[in-house]
Amino acid sequence: MAGQIPQRFIDDLLARTDVVDIVSERVKLKKTGRNHSGLCPFHQEKSPSFTVSADKQFYHCFGCGAHGNALRFLMEYDRLAFPEAVEQLAARLGLDVPREGQDDPHQQFRERKRKEGVNLLELAASFFRERMKMPEGRQARDYLDQRGLSPEVVREFGIGFAPAEWEALRHHLGEHGISEAVQIEYGLLVHREDSGRMYDRFRDRVMFPIRDIRGRTVAFGGRVLGDGKPKYLNSPETPVFHKGRELYGLYEARQAHSRLERVVIVEGYMDVVALAQFGIRNAVATLGTATTEDHLSRLFRVVDEVVFCFDGDRAGRQAADRALRTALPMMIDGRQARFLFLPEGEDPDTLVRREGADGFADRVTCASPLSEFLFEQAAQGRDLGHIEERERYASQVLDAIGQLPDGMLKSLLLTELSRRTGVDQSSFESIMLRHSGAAQQAPADSSQPLPAGEPLPAPNEAVGQGGSLGLMARALQLLVHEPGLVERLPDNDNWCALDQPDARLCYQVVRLLKAGGYRSAQVLLAHFHGTPEGERLAELARRQPLVPKEVRGAELENWVSYFQRHRQQRSPQDEYDALLARSRAGETLSQQERQRLSELLMELKG
Ligand code: CTP
Ligand code: MN
Repeated sequence: MAGQIPQRFIDDLLARTDVVDIVSERVKLKKTGRNHSGLCPFHQEKSPSFTVSADKQFYHCFGCGAHGNALRFLMEYDRLAFPEAVEQLAARLGLDVPREGQDDPHQQFRERKRKEGVNLLELAASFFRERMKMPEGRQARDYLDQRGLSPEVVREFGIGFAPAEWEALRHHLGEHGISEAVQIEYGLLVHREDSGRMYDRFRDRVMFPIRDIRGRTVAFGGRVLGDGKPKYLNSPETPVFHKGRELYGLYEARQAHSRLERVVIVEGYMDVVALAQFGIRNAVATLGTATTEDHLSRLFRVVDEVVFCFDGDRAGRQAADRALRTALPMMIDGRQARFLFLPEGEDPDTLVRREGADGFADRVTCASPLSEFLFEQAAQGRDLGHIEERERYASQVLDAIGQLPDGMLKSLLLTELSRRTGVDQSSFESIMLRHSGAAQQAPADSSQPLPAGEPLPAPNEAVGQGGSLGLMARALQLLVHEPGLVERLPDNDNWCALDQPDARLCYQVVRLLKAGGYRSAQVLLAHFHGTPEGERLAELARRQPLVPKEVRGAELENWVSYFQRHRQQRSPQDEYDALLARSRAGETLSQQERQRLSELLMELKG
């Protein structure tokens, strides 16, 4: 891990940057006296209340309170994390960002090793490519041609040829001053302990370089030209290559799309390359292993949808079952996984050749969504006419649903399960709570799960007793730490049950965030500065939420739907009083709220 960026460097960077340049590259500014001004990019406005001061080197909006220096502006406007904003400023000045601990000999050593490895593998990759162009590479060229690959696709994937010699690569790398020890470490050279012999690992094979997400060669897969064994030979685990993490073709897929939305996960190198040959450039292959959690989290960082591709046979079904289990805990709302089964005896390579790109694309379009596959899989081989079989079916589905992170998908699946089995949804919910041991599902900084349909804790329980936060406070805390989460909230804000502690503040914060001006905790805190609310927010900002970052959005949604459910259980009188109180306090109620108010009034009057 890289160390901290030294404060000295940041200060220096800011001293050498003009905030006016940074802002005016993104916002139209006019010079007004000593300052520049324009329309605030952080909230909607018609007349300019946004100013940038060259003297003070900060920007400030009198409308929404957005405020900060050049770095803050980049973070807010370009939505960058702090180190990224620093990188960005440094790049403008042509500087490299130093990291603390770079003088640390261990770190230096690791860094040097990594560079060494990558250079060596890059060198090997170009050696293989060169050799394929030479007369000896003829057979490999013919082989690829016979498998229907054009020189363009071969070039795009950097495919090469390892000659049928024992030490061709070893000599080549030796000439570049690369020691045998390093060649062994990176899996290019094999050292036999028994005989002491050393020889190139890859010989007489078509070579597929495996690239990491940034395009650096980290390993190879080599295929025999004929029917020899093993058919594929892969690099062993090395300091830069871990089979369970890398995906063949991911770099190439990203290169081929300005915005990659979905990937198709296939089994083999040839599948990826053949699909690319037919213009389907979003396939990636796991390297002879099942899809791991690492693979998926890597993929979900760059796309929202994955389509798993399986053989139609029994082994394929089993693989799909494993993939489903791996995927379930990662399916936060907004992500999608689908399952595609190929006809028996076919792989994507043979299929796309037979059916063409459109045929294959149609199959992808028709692949079963995870939700369907889950029910299908559980129903397999069961006669649902029998109660016992139905019980097992329901248990299996319920077990899978229990693996999902809390969110919309989970609720929808529960509803669907109840529809399909005729069992009341609340029974499933309580079974699930019992099974999960509750703690697993609980928001992490309390040991309390959120039981569906139970009343909110009484106000005095919910306030900072023993340091634990009330429910509304926890929602608020997430928003303070990640203001962007406001996008996951419903349009209607009436879930802020105003009789709860922190609810009024939460409501105000949500309104501010929705108005669009505030994108960081700092700006939000500045807005409330000097008030009791400001203190409360600062307190929440100091406490790190214990909910892991990946699931915060889902968690917030969960809470909101809990509040909504609870709200529906409030008596009309309470709801009426709360709305009326807000209106009397001078707040403008939304159209929906006004309508609700009159509905309630009618209801209460009889
Ligand atoms: N594999 C491997 N080692 C082997 C066989 C297979 O690592 N000895 C991996 C490779 O990543 C290969 C994938 O498993 O691409 C699928 O293997 P298989 O279906 O046997 O090969 P195909 O991809 O169909 O290869 P080809 O079309 O070249 O025969
Ligand atoms: Mn094949």
